[in-house]
Amino acid sequence: MPITEAQVKDALSNVIDPDLGQDLVTLNMIEDIRIDGKKVAFTVNLTTPACPMKAEIERACHNAIKHLVDEEAEVAIKMDSKVTQGRAPQAEGQENMLSGVKNIIAVASGKGGVGKSTISVNMAVALAKDGAKVGLVDTDIYGPSIPTMFNINERPNINTQRRIIPLEKYGVKLLSMGFLVDQDQAVVWRGPMVSSAVKQFLTEAEWGELDYLVMDLPPGTGDIQLTIVQSVPLTGAVVVSTPQDVALDDARKAVAMFRKVNVPVLGIVENMAYFTPPDMPDKKYYIFGQGGARRLAEKLDVPFLGEVPLEERVRSGSDSGAPVVIEKESSPASEALVAISQRTAQQISIRNASVPPTEKIEILFK
Ligand SMILES: Nc1ncnc2c1ncn2[C@@H]1O[C@H](COP(=O)(O)OP(=O)(O)OP(=O)(O)O)[C@@H](O)[C@H]1O
Ligand SMILES: [Mg+2]
Repeated sequence: MPITEAQVKDALSNVIDPDLGQDLVTLNMIEDIRIDGKKVAFTVNLTTPACPMKAEIERACHNAIKHLVDEEAEVAIKMDSKVTQGRAPQAEGQENMLSGVKNIIAVASGKGGVGKSTISVNMAVALAKDGAKVGLVDTDIYGPSIPTMFNINERPNINTQRRIIPLEKYGVKLLSMGFLVDQDQAVVWRGPMVSSAVKQFLTEAEWGELDYLVMDLPPGTGDIQLTIVQSVPLTGAVVVSTPQDVALDDARKAVAMFRKVNVPVLGIVENMAYFTPPDMPDKKYYIFGQGGARRLAEKLDVPFLGEVPLEERVRSGSDSGAPVVIEKESSPASEALVAISQRTAQQISIRNASVPPTEKIEILFK
């Protein structure tokens, strides 16, 4: 009996996307089915190339064909992706703001120095490594980090339409206030000047088509942060904290700030979770306390995205312009950073699937 396309679809309708809770056929994820004798080929279009379930879904598809269609079938699966779009509704007059950007992620904290820039940079690079089109924007005008963390000192060019062309490194399009503003000058800028400069610099840049634009925010939950998050149609926010109480109190304020302006919190990251001395790989020292951010996430009912240990390589990579996730040899911190990026992409996919854009307006403004 020759294998038919209907049989293949039938079999794949038994494979459930664990995040979205529906089968791959209903979700329109199966494309390009080709059958040639015992050879069965098809494409699975996931909602993100950074899907942490990719291998599991591929295995389930393979098994479905083997068990439900023909155990002699030669199955060839192409795992591809089409990133879904999710953005908050834009305020009037902003219709074309960042129109080619599917998802905008803000990385925030209450307290300074907890690792926002480290998480933003590594998340952007890890998502790009997984195959997504990624941009990263550093909105911290008083203490920009991206020039150092990518070791870039040049100024971006302007195209013929007088739009800023982002620089590019490790597959990530980059813009930092630090590329444009003289640091000695920035110190005297007042809040409204900062937010209008950030807005201008976001809208007047040539980002092109992006799956994810990661926004590294300045520390705090004051006027500057509030204006920035309100001037951009954000998909969601990632809140970074260390496990210590002073940082957690501020992380709670950051979550409250996003909730107040109806920006979904995609999750909380615990940075500097513990330290393992290189010569004592089995030891974990909880320098800033243990598990505080995880507990906070549970209490606030937001996803916990993972914990990143304190590691010398994270710091030295940031200082030398080589984010730790590009290193060939992985480490507990780099693995954690990759997993956190994938979980963030996963939360975005879940959100985009469960909240249709039209209903989103209603829910957001309740
Ligand atoms: N997991 C880690 N292991 C080792 N060093 C880290 C880790 N996370 C961050 N650091 C270091 O801690 C310092 C502060 O991190 P980072 O600049 O990312 O924080 P931030 O929250 O962006 O700070 P700011 O509030 O000033 O913007 C940096 O020197 C960075 O390299
Ligand atoms: Mg920073």
